[in-house]
Parts: sequence; structure tokens; C-alpha cells
Amino acid sequence: MGGLLASKMYDTAKGIVINLISMIDEFGHVLNGARSYYTNRSQPPLLSSMVYDIYLRTVDLEFVRNALPALIKEHKFWNSGFHSITIQDAPGGNGYHSLSRYYAMWNEPRPESSLLDEKLASKFVNSNEKQHLYREIASAAESGWDFSSRWMRDSTDLSTLATTSVLPVDLNVFILKMELDISNLARAAGDYRTAQHFFEASLVRKKTVNSIFWNPEKGQWLDYWLDNDSYKGAHTWDSRNQNHNTYASNFIPLWIESFYSDSKQMKKVLKSIRNSGLLCNAGIATSMINSGEQWDFPNGWAPIQHMIVEGLARSGLKEARALAEDIVARWLQTNYVAYKHTGYMHEKYDVQSCGDFGGGGEYVPQTGFGWSNGVVLAFLEEFGWPEDQKIDCYLTS
Ligand SMILES: *[C@@H]1O[C@H](CO)[C@@H](O)[C@H](O)[C@H]1NC(C)=O
Ligand SMILES: *[C@@H]1O[C@H](CO)[C@@H](O)[C@H](O)[C@H]1NC(C)=O
Repeated sequence: MGGLLASKMYDTAKGIVINLISMIDEFGHVLNGARSYYTNRSQPPLLSSMVYDIYLRTVDLEFVRNALPALIKEHKFWNSGFHSITIQDAPGGNGYHSLSRYYAMWNEPRPESSLLDEKLASKFVNSNEKQHLYREIASAAESGWDFSSRWMRDSTDLSTLATTSVLPVDLNVFILKMELDISNLARAAGDYRTAQHFFEASLVRKKTVNSIFWNPEKGQWLDYWLDNDSYKGAHTWDSRNQNHNTYASNFIPLWIESFYSDSKQMKKVLKSIRNSGLLCNAGIATSMINSGEQWDFPNGWAPIQHMIVEGLARSGLKEARALAEDIVARWLQTNYVAYKHTGYMHEKYDVQSCGDFGGGGEYVPQTGFGWSNGVVLAFLEEFGWPEDQKIDCYLTS
């Protein structure tokens, strides 16, 4: 979407959104892909961001009015049923927090990879255990991070996937973004009641994100493990359940104004990201764990660079802006060098050295990828080609 808007292809951007809205009308959520066998699995909820970005460029209020009911329906999808979890403050506090998790309505092998899934489940004899694993696999696909040590109890064993036991930082931040987007869009469309309602929801969720995920010692927001993924009552918060591994998703709150505008917290986060080990020669690594899965070290993915860079650049802190420009320079150069060497853009890059594309996971690395193209265009539009050639990209490749 960022690439289409940078290319002024507004009608194409709107056409994509209209297609996604038709899925919400029919199925209640944006499908994981536009195929009949994906009806029981969502995408991470980023449609509101698409609508909002298109609105900022086109000021098309008719388009906004048509999109709002679908966005509100999608918000409900993520805040009800199996996607919704309640956490109660640790003893001593008396707050209740409503959060969301990935949870695919699917307990069979993924149709697109059924042989792999059956093989992975073959270590279980009991059919309940097999079905449980199938749901965890499909839920990891719903998260977009398929697969990653983030969802695994043991990062060396994919059959320990436990996606539905994780309250993910990024998902909950996307829902906060959805609330702000709906609020802004509704205000633009003259629906002040809806605008106020979703603005208040965003304030509550900001508090929730900081209560459940923020870890002041690490200066990061950490995913939270549930003890029991089938328990329907309120889970009691316990600091030991925060996942202390460093993931790029621990910094996704930076993308949202609610967090990047808090300069005191930002300074802590800035220090933390510098010391995290995630900043590599050719971009931000997905994690520090080399599990062999594609959403882990040493892969870097375009949308993650984009979200973190946007937050750093908008925070108003000079040093954060400088870090954003440094990441952009590295990312643009590694994409360019890989393109020159291979003739392709790639879906992911190995951030250890300039010009290397990524690997790992269950399928052969894909070329020509939309989000890699889109982020390069969005970076070029906002930052231009890096003039400063201090980064040694051409030499190390
Ligand atoms: C998929 O969702 C439909 C509609 O909610 C449901 O009837 C069906 O049982 C689901 N399929 C699986 C495999 O869970
Ligand atoms: C998880 O919660 C369910 C539903 O309340 C309960 O039946 C089950 O025993 C719990 N499992 C564990 C391991 O505590």
C-alpha cells in the first residue's frame, strides 16, 4: 500500500481495499489470502491503516464512509470470542485488561501444506493433540510470523508451537492503531460519537499495552505467555510470563503516535534498541534466535523496518531520526545490491551482510515481493537515496 501511494496509484490502492472489505462483509474478517480454503484464518488487522493512508492522500470521504462499517466489524472480530482474553492485575492491583490473540478457527492440516503438517503432527497419537497442533500452526499463519520461535515453547522444535498461548505485542498495537484510525476517519466523516468512542478505547488500550507488555528494565514491550490457552476466565498477570527474548516486534509500539510521542519512554526504548543486537549491517533482524525458521535471525523483513523507522522518524527526537535514517540507508542499499546481483527483489533479506537475501522455513525464498518493493518506494519518497556513503554496503557483499 505504501508503494502504491508513493506511486500515486490511488485507484489501485482503493481497489485492493474494496476487495478486502468484501471479505469482511462475507466472512467477518480479512482472509489470510484470497482463496476459498483460507476462510477460517485472518490476516493481522492492518486494513484501517490502509484506509487511513489512502484518506490522507485523497481526502475521499465517500471512500471513508463506505469503509467505516467494515472496520468496525473487523474491530469486533478481534475483540470477541476466542480472540479475546482478559488479564487481571497481579494481587494488589484491581484492574482488568482486555487483550487479543491470534486464534485460527481451524484444527486440520493447512490445505496448502497438509503433508508437512501431518508429518509434524505424526509424533502425537491422540487426535485431540493433533487437532491442537493444527490450530497452533494455522494461528501462526494468521499472525503473519509463520514460523518463529516467538510461538514455540522450545525454539528447536516446531511441534511445540503454542501460538494461541501468546498475547502478542504487535497484534494489540495494531488494534490500538485500528481504534485511532477509526476515530480519525469517523471524525473526518462527521460521526463524532463513533470518533469519541474509539478515541476512548485507544486510551484504555494504551494503558493495557503498557500494563501487560512494558518491561522497564529491558526498555521493551514483551509478548505475554498464557498458562492455559483454553481457560475462559480472567488470567492473573505474572511478570514471569513475559517473554524475555528480544524480537523486533517488541519495538512495534514505536509505530504508533500514542507511544512515539512519549519522549521519556522513547529515550529508554531508543537505548534498548541500540543495545538489543537487532541492529545489523543490512537492517533490523527479526530476532536474536537462529531457529532455522524464517521469522527469526538472521532474516529482516520489509514491513518491520518500515514500522520501526516511521516511529523513530516521527518521534521528534533528533537521535531517533538519525537512527531511522541509518536503518533506511542500510535497507535501501541491501535491496539495491541484491537486485543488481540477482535481478530480483526478495521477500526477506539476510541482515548480516549487504546484498544477501534470506532463507529458512518451509518453502523456497520468493522473489518479486510486494512489500519489499513497497517499502523501498515509501523510503525513497520520504527519505530519498542516502547521500552519505559511510555505510560499506557495496564492499561487504
Ligand atoms: C471453519 O469455520 C466454519 C464457520 O465458522 C465452521 O463451521 C467450520 O467448522 C470451521 N472449520 C474448521 C476445520 O474448524
Ligand atoms: C485449563 O482451563 C480449562 C478450562 O477452565 C480446565 O478444564 C483445564 O483443566 C485447565 N488446564 C490446566 C493445565 O490448568
